[in-house]
Amino acid sequence: MRWIVCFAGVVLAAQLPDAKIKRDPPYQPIPFSHKAHTAVGLKCAECHTMPDPGDFAGYPKTATCMACHITVKAESPHIQKLAGLHKEGKRVQWTPVYRIPDWVSFNHKQHMGVAGVSCADCHGPVATRVELWREKDLSMDACMQCHRQKNAPNGCLVCHEQR
Ligand code: HEC
Ligand code: HEC
Ligand code: HEC
Ligand code: HEC
Ligand code: HEC
Repeated sequence: MRWIVCFAGVVLAAQLPDAKIKRDPPYQPIPFSHKAHTAVGLKCAECHTMPDPGDFAGYPKTATCMACHITVKAESPHIQKLAGLHKEGKRVQWTPVYRIPDWVSFNHKQHMGVAGVSCADCHGPVATRVELWREKDLSMDACMQCHRQKNAPNGCLVCHEQR
């Protein structure tokens, strides 16, 4: 009986949509468009600086935005909100799009400059997106699948520290 229950579970799992991908874009306090800002000629690294040790790509400071928006579209209500936060020394509370649990070891810098690994492999064609959503799967299976393809280490302790 046990294998029948197990089999039914597998079939059911195969039919359920993967909750980890194709989620709707989350609410963002300011409607920032990657498409529009790539068109202006900005590069990913100008806003996502990956400070040492490189675990996080990070979000830009309001000062990075205000370098242009002190004049560009200054009349827009969205830019006025941005300018207001900047003046008060506050950050924009961006809603996270991609998150993995804290207890998983992940480092952005370790994945940079690696042959055949780009931002788009893990985040999709961001430069063409007006809004971002979790369009790429970054589950354990997805991590391990790429590691297998690229001959990167796949032992459990590579991504999970021993406790
Ligand atoms: C002008 C600054 C700027 C540039 C240039 C920029 N970004 Fe962003 N990025 C942001 C801001 C602001 C957010 C937060 C709002 C959002 O999620 O859309 C963000 C969010 C993201 C996120 C989602 C982060 C999360 O919470 O999971 C990814 C992934 C990302 N950017 C990748 C890129 C890539 C790849 C490029 C280059 C093609 C790029 N960005 C260029 C400012 C920038
Ligand atoms: C190998 C997969 C992978 C690659 C390549 C990658 N990212 Fe990420 N990114 C992630 C994961 C996983 C997270 C979630 C991290 C977390 O929750 O700690 C993330 C989160 C982010 C975030 C949210 C803020 C943060 O620092 O956690 C931004 C912004 C981001 N990535 C931008 C980029 C940019 C820009 C590039 C290319 C220069 C890039 N990523 C390349 C996997 C990747
Ligand atoms: C290099 C200059 C530059 C930087 C830096 C920059 N922007 Fe922009 N931004 C522009 C330009 C140019 C437009 C107008 C694009 C268009 O409408 O075609 C724009 C448009 C916008 C708009 C739409 C405004 C409206 O109401 O139409 C928002 C919101 C915005 N930017 C937010 C940001 C945020 C947030 C940052 C920092 C993360 C940022 N920008 C950084 C140049 C810049
Ligand atoms: C698109 C392919 C790709 C994806 C997706 C990917 N990785 Fe990697 N990862 C690599 C490659 C290639 C290396 C080896 C880098 C090198 O040679 O230095 C690596 C290295 C690592 C390392 C360092 C291993 C070591 O000790 O040398 C860790 C930790 C890691 N990845 C965690 C993750 C986690 C966690 C995820 C999922 C959230 C993930 N990776 C997703 C390609 C990927
Ligand atoms: C390349 C990175 C990577 C490797 C290698 C890896 N894991 Fe994971 N693991 C992850 C990530 C990322 C998550 C979190 C997935 C998520 O967000 O749901 C995770 C989650 C888990 C969880 C929690 C599952 C859950 O449903 O919450 C367990 C248990 C686990 N891993 C065990 C293992 C074991 C055992 C191995 C060795 C066979 C292993 N992992 C190898 C990246 C990895």
